[in-house]
Amino acid sequence: MATIHVDETTGSDETGTGTSEQPYQTLAFALFTHSDAKLLTRKDVGSAYDEPTQSAVKKARKGADGLEKKRKKAEELAAREAQDKAAERERREKLIEESKKIVLVEDPALPVAKKAKIGHLEPLRGQRVKVSGWVHRLRSQKDIIFIVLREGTGYLQCVLSGNVAQTYEALTLTLESTVLLVGTLQPVPEGKTAPGGHELVVDFWKVLGGAPGGDEAFTNRLNEKSDPSIMADLRHLVLRGETASAVLKLRAALMSSFRESLVSHDLLEVTPPCLVQTQVEGGATLFKFNYYGQDAYLTQSSQLYLETCLPSLGDVFCVQESFRAENSHTRRHLSEYTHLEAELAFIDFNDLMTHIEAIICETVDKLLANPTTAGLIKQLNPNFTAPARPFLRMSYVDAIAWLNEHGIQHEAEDAEGNVVKDEQGNAKMVDHAVGDDIAEAAERRMTDILGVPMFLYGFPAELKSFYMKRMPREEAHGGHLFTESCDLLMPGVGEIVGGSMRMTGQDELLAAYKKEGIDPAPYYWFTDQRKYGTCEHGGYGLGVERFLAWLANRFTVRECALYPRWPGRATP
Ligand code: 4AD
Repeated sequence: MATIHVDETTGSDETGTGTSEQPYQTLAFALFTHSDAKLLTRKDVGSAYDEPTQSAVKKARKGADGLEKKRKKAEELAAREAQDKAAERERREKLIEESKKIVLVEDPALPVAKKAKIGHLEPLRGQRVKVSGWVHRLRSQKDIIFIVLREGTGYLQCVLSGNVAQTYEALTLTLESTVLLVGTLQPVPEGKTAPGGHELVVDFWKVLGGAPGGDEAFTNRLNEKSDPSIMADLRHLVLRGETASAVLKLRAALMSSFRESLVSHDLLEVTPPCLVQTQVEGGATLFKFNYYGQDAYLTQSSQLYLETCLPSLGDVFCVQESFRAENSHTRRHLSEYTHLEAELAFIDFNDLMTHIEAIICETVDKLLANPTTAGLIKQLNPNFTAPARPFLRMSYVDAIAWLNEHGIQHEAEDAEGNVVKDEQGNAKMVDHAVGDDIAEAAERRMTDILGVPMFLYGFPAELKSFYMKRMPREEAHGGHLFTESCDLLMPGVGEIVGGSMRMTGQDELLAAYKKEGIDPAPYYWFTDQRKYGTCEHGGYGLGVERFLAWLANRFTVRECALYPRWPGRATP
């Protein structure tokens, strides 16, 4: 006869085995598992194992009976469940077998269905319509199947019942399949809601392209819990989601509104090249490639080309991809981004900032005035309100003082540009001084505290690009010369626009190339602008993804590009 041990203090009914080393905790459990064993019990490790008293055994037997009853119940339940499952499987198999016999035919007596896009259905209420799209949502309730259909112009609730819901295709329909649905468009019943306020009562339909179920099912490849790198690999599927597609729809509307605003200010759209042999914003961030045996680059900015358009076309703008080989893994940097750039002639620095502010505010106003785009903004950024004009303007020198007054410091750097660290390895933080580049973190804290769009202007010449117009010498400060440059900063995102007035004199420009170590030869066409009738002019570049991140309250610009590119990522 086996001997089973119980230790009331350190034993365990879950992990114990009944040996003296791994005793159970209760006598009841020991009896339940080993009804005919010799039982030994102790209070704790300090006492010796002993035979239990008769009354203790009697009490434990009751407990063991209870446990046995519980076990039986669970066993019965499991058996019933297995039976139900089998019955359900059988019922479904039968149903599916039966369903194969049902052949749907379109009733020729019904009125001819009008083919329509989901976004244009409202005038067709009460009529028979034909729509095609992807199964966005799918739900069965008793014998009715509800589909939310998606095809870009909107979402449509569709109801399948009776024969229509009993075909083989109906029973095996999966999410993301493409379908053709024909039926009568009805306003949704009182008290119910559906996109557009109507639903399609389907009388005929077919699957155009089935999507897999099981392991390959859409929701098994991608869901809210998917890892960011999987999301990036499956961007083509992410785009099918409501949020991603809303961002892209808003982006399209944003681009049209920008174009409308710019055209209304007499700017003409041009398309400069992407393949170039000159730099604009510093050689360090150029993507270089072999162009028929010569060095060439992907454009960083179309600014220089826009400047050449002024004499023939007047004020111009472009919407072009710009490329930056920056190893920046931040939420506002892309390796390829959509750059909206404009250039205006015969303006001064004040005109430039006023123009940028006008274009931005008019563009936002247009979006808010359109119910569809206003709806997208509300969906993505419910608390959005149009920014107040005029935008705050703060000079670079004042911003340095502001940062110091607010205790916003930056990491100290040694002469080689390395971060200075203390004994614990923490970066040494120091106050800002005129001449320092205001780092992204400090800039963001400033905009977040101020909470409004602001122009930061007048940056030191040594921090900015070679072509920028210098401020008069009287403005110099501690040996620093400043430029007529401005960045527009937005709360939550930081810099979304960078602009400046440009040098107008040929000699000054030649000196600037030299200082920057740029060979003037390939820039002959840019220099010629100063030779053949120069003019005061300026312009700016706006990062479309950054603007959209601000407008749609997205965490990162990566959500604001169709297929975002960042260091190490150029797929899909
Ligand atoms: O300040 P940036 O470098 O200015 C220029 O390129 C000027 N040549 C433009 C001009 O005057 N025509 O860039 C302008 C804007 C930035 O404010 C930012 O919004 C965006 O381009 N930008 C980026 N957006 C995403 N990822 C990046 N890596 C970006 N770099 C700049």
